[in-house]
Amino acid sequence: MTENGRLAEFEARIRRGEKIEPGDWMPEDYRRQLIRMISQHAHSEIMGMLPEGTWIARAPNLRRKMVLLAKVQDEAGHGQYLYHAAETLGATREEMIEALLSGKAKYSQVFNYPSLSWADMGVIGWFVDGAAILNQTMLARCSYGPYSRAMVRISAEESFHMKQGKEQVILLSQGTAAQVAMVQDAVNRWWWPSMMMFGPHDQESPNSPVLIKWAIKTRTNDELRQDFVNQIAPEVMELGLTLPDPDLHIEKATGNWIHGPIDWDEFWRVVRGDGPCNAERMAARRKAHDDGLWVRQALEAYARREAGVAAA
Ligand code: 3HC
Repeated sequence: MTENGRLAEFEARIRRGEKIEPGDWMPEDYRRQLIRMISQHAHSEIMGMLPEGTWIARAPNLRRKMVLLAKVQDEAGHGQYLYHAAETLGATREEMIEALLSGKAKYSQVFNYPSLSWADMGVIGWFVDGAAILNQTMLARCSYGPYSRAMVRISAEESFHMKQGKEQVILLSQGTAAQVAMVQDAVNRWWWPSMMMFGPHDQESPNSPVLIKWAIKTRTNDELRQDFVNQIAPEVMELGLTLPDPDLHIEKATGNWIHGPIDWDEFWRVVRGDGPCNAERMAARRKAHDDGLWVRQALEAYARREAGVAAA
């Protein structure tokens, strides 16, 4: 079959809603796009552990400590799941980690902001994991089998992450004046970075056309962002809290909450490494990699010995 014939058959499979599996023929650009997206998603899960990890030792009680520990541990598992999904496409773990540590690969810009109070743990859970759920339940319908199946498992755990966060924001919003002020401050700081998580506007999103064509993405950046605003905005206001968007209003004709302009200069500044915590986050990730060298060496030595024993 000619290359064009293979492509036509591949696209017919996509149109039929079939899942593409690792051993199937796929266009190189499909493979490249998936390695890009899945590896950066995995990086985001691991880097996402850092803003919350700093609060585990400062949790206000044992229950909150246990819940936060479970959430951060989940994120580590999500990262491993996703690195494995990317490896089914031929990417190696070493290449992906090197791309992150060298700064070549991206991770979600939202994790380059500081978590300044315990209320941030609630707002991150509600807003950041809430945004991730919208994105990841969409990706559960992705045409690439391993990514789609990983998303089904991960989305179930994200639901717990969002609920534990939302519960904390509700409690703090009904607490003392100091607690209300603390949670309102966290809402003000995390709202716009959470909105930016969905990526640039559709017309500024160079990857979206091919991702939509091959059903890797089945919703656009702006469609998911609109779902996010429609879901979160009324619930935040219901709690007597405000959102840092003076232009936010409901459009009667569609029922959509229309948000104000997003500061894309800030977005690209943070994506390009000049955010409040980029250097701190990357230093922590590089240190963790260096500290783990002995584990990797021990595993390699064990594998060599096992291979030697098997060969003997
Ligand atoms: N942070 C950093 N970079 C971003 C970004 C963000 N929030 N949004 C977009 N970008 C980058 C893209 O990676 C792309 O750069 P690249 O071509 O060098 O990779 C560039 O900006 C242009 O953006 P596009 O819209 O063209 O890129 P995509 O079509 O890939 O859309 C995306 C961006 C929506 C993030 C998409 O890649 C995606 O859905 N990825 C999978 C999900 C994911 O990675 N989520 C990150 C959060 S994970 C998380 O929240 C963990 C949870 O436990 C809290």
